[in-house]
Amino acid sequence: MKVVITGFSGFVGTNLSHYLEQANCEIQSLSLRNDNWKETIDLKADAVIHLAGKAHDLKKTSNAEAYFEVNYELTKKIYDCFLKSESEVFVYMSSVKAVKDIVEGVLTEEDVPTPVTAYGQSKLKAEHYILNNIPPNKRVYILRPCMIHGPGNKGNLNLLFQLVSKGFPWPLGSFQNQRSFLSIENLCFVIQELLHQKTIPSGVYNVADDVSLSTNNVIELLGESLGKKSRIWKVPAHWIKTIAKSGDYLHLPLNTERLHKLTENYVVSNHKIVKAIQKPMPVSSREGLMITFTSFR
Ligand SMILES: NC(=O)c1ccc[n+]([C@@H]2O[C@H](COP(=O)([O-])OP(=O)(O)OC[C@H]3O[C@@H](n4cnc5c(N)ncnc54)[C@H](OP(=O)(O)O)[C@@H]3O)[C@@H](O)[C@H]2O)c1
Repeated sequence: MKVVITGFSGFVGTNLSHYLEQANCEIQSLSLRNDNWKETIDLKADAVIHLAGKAHDLKKTSNAEAYFEVNYELTKKIYDCFLKSESEVFVYMSSVKAVKDIVEGVLTEEDVPTPVTAYGQSKLKAEHYILNNIPPNKRVYILRPCMIHGPGNKGNLNLLFQLVSKGFPWPLGSFQNQRSFLSIENLCFVIQELLHQKTIPSGVYNVADDVSLSTNNVIELLGESLGKKSRIWKVPAHWIKTIAKSGDYLHLPLNTERLHKLTENYVVSNHKIVKAIQKPMPVSSREGLMITFTSFR
């Protein structure tokens, strides 16, 4: 099977290309950084996986137009190209953030999207464009992954790993939260199944591991992966919140936004995709995290 992948040099692209190559797919790595891609894209490939996107920028240095330019305009261009091509399958990597920034309960595909950030809004606009133009002879999948982790991931999990490995105590133990993660292994598996199973209907699918975990669970797992007991301190939440507020002004590593990221609830249901694939996710939430933590060493 021939597959075109955009955004191949990124975290997901690197892992997915490797995974699909192992499964005997022939990959065309397509950068959308300049307009040459329109001449080089393989219009006879079996599938197009569109990963290229402007990621959520926690430093808030980008303006809203930059998100719409990449996440909407570029998606529109490559999707139009797919519609004219002989390719049968299109996979668009959207995000759960296209739906909600704050989740109460469990996020499903039935939730009405109300994204607040330019990142989420630009992803949602691209989703709408695609959903309004799905021809009957092609299969089109919009995936909404939650936080993805795996080898090469430089996000908050890597930060936590550095903290625990250096023996620092985790001071946010008094915060009780529950959140979903997505192992790159499970994401690659889902994409491979979508490429091969021709009866899975086009549409929007959340992607997450089976079980959600608290940040305290994650800290314990980090300790296990390092062969030592994690130190979890239950510093009163109101003290931590005060420190985080000072961090907003004094530019400390802990500020309100990072505190929110580390302690928020964000549980995502994967029932629709698991039911569609009719196979269980290959790795459990714990196993996936252990694989990622081992890769950080
Ligand atoms: N990581 C997560 O937790 C997560 C969660 C939900 C959704 N997603 C989505 O999944 C996709 C892949 O995520 P990732 O973590 O692999 O992101 P990443 O590491 O930031 O890689 C994104 C890729 O997009 C391409 N890109 C970025 N800006 C571009 C621009 N201005 N013009 C053209 N191409 C540009 C680049 O590919 P090239 O330079 O190779 O062309 C880059 O390597 C993204 O669309 C992201 O929004 C990620």
